[in-house]
Amino acid sequence: MKSKKPSTARGDATIESYARYVIPSYGRSPLVIVRGKGSWLWDSEGKKYLDFFPGYAVSGLGHCHPKIVRAIKRQAEQLIHLPNIYYNPLQGKLAELIVTHSFPGKCFFCNSGAEANEAAMKLVRKSGHGRGRYEIVSMLESFHGRTIATITATGQKKYQEGFGPLLPGVVHVPFGDIGALGRAVNEKTCAVMLEPIQGEGGIKVARPEYFVAVRRLCDSKGILLIMDEVQTGMGRTGEYFAYQRYGIRPDIMTLAKTLGGGVAIGAMVAGSRYADLLQPGTHASTFGGNPLACAAAIATFAAIEEEGIIKNVRRLGNYLRTQAVRLSARFPFVREVRGEGFMLGMHLAIDGKMVVAECLKRGMLTNSTGDNVLRLMPAMTVKKQEIDRAMSIVGDVFDVVAKRNVSSGV
Ligand SMILES: Cc1ncc(COP(=O)(O)O)c(C=O)c1O
Repeated sequence: MKSKKPSTARGDATIESYARYVIPSYGRSPLVIVRGKGSWLWDSEGKKYLDFFPGYAVSGLGHCHPKIVRAIKRQAEQLIHLPNIYYNPLQGKLAELIVTHSFPGKCFFCNSGAEANEAAMKLVRKSGHGRGRYEIVSMLESFHGRTIATITATGQKKYQEGFGPLLPGVVHVPFGDIGALGRAVNEKTCAVMLEPIQGEGGIKVARPEYFVAVRRLCDSKGILLIMDEVQTGMGRTGEYFAYQRYGIRPDIMTLAKTLGGGVAIGAMVAGSRYADLLQPGTHASTFGGNPLACAAAIATFAAIEEEGIIKNVRRLGNYLRTQAVRLSARFPFVREVRGEGFMLGMHLAIDGKMVVAECLKRGMLTNSTGDNVLRLMPAMTVKKQEIDRAMSIVGDVFDVVAKRNVSSGV
């Protein structure tokens, strides 16, 4: 059948090509997106969407930030890739930027969050090698990636089902429960691994005292602390890295998502005491830390500094929270608003996926995770008017749900 609108035909053809040629491992909305700028995306028919969860936090500085675009263009003309057996000045510069903003140590570069966590898991096993220490204690409801090692570390059965046997030597305890963690640590433990705020698990937070106690426990048992800052890192919570909120320091930190401003890059940062455990030949990544990705990440740091992004997160993060709390007071099916900075979640007593679908109909992209937690994670460059627009859409959707509930007697 001939379509009246050529742009729709283009969209249909794209969706059809996916159906035929792309492995269906993702649930997708029927949207074909062709362009992005700041907090906005455009589809193949020219319709505009307010993106309130840009790239699952990859596009943390918004889509196509001009400084990042310029850096990529410039670097693409100079040198795109270089094997890690040579020196590339940008990798050294990026490592210095990360270490300067976090803690004394060294970086290993890879291409994703899962790979950064895989590197961290290898390093902590290496630290325990020869002493019979190989066990990693991770958290229930955590998320660390989709490789076999990282789905094992991920404390959610739904990501593991059908892929067993999983990696031996990983145990899980409830996040925020220092007693349970203390009981899980034994003479075989080499590390504790956690996210400062559980993202995919539903924006779950723990008290600052918990992190202080975890640090103390790791020190007293002589084991390493891995903080997965893949989602929380690079300013999202109102600090460069979320652990900085708690006055402690991890031994290992993993990064990805916003680090590359949209370009694939991951990093594992290891404190000075452990950084040299991975000697030549022990770990590698062909693409890791290539000049193009490093140029994008350096430009991301520059933009964060020059544009006062972290200040914006603190200021407008508070504003976003206030708006979300206001909605929670109006609609009793909002159970809780939680999180920090621009990593907020609204825990709902209604179907989160339905809310996401209704927001999409009104031109807003967002996401629901965990147990019906609506994620409010805009670009860190978002403007106040864009927050107002997003919260007005969410309010409209809640209104419709509330009226529906009244008429059905719920
Ligand atoms: C905390 C955390 N760690 C690791 C990952 C995995 O990152 P990637 O998808 O880049 O492998 C994610 C992805 O959502 C994440 O949120």
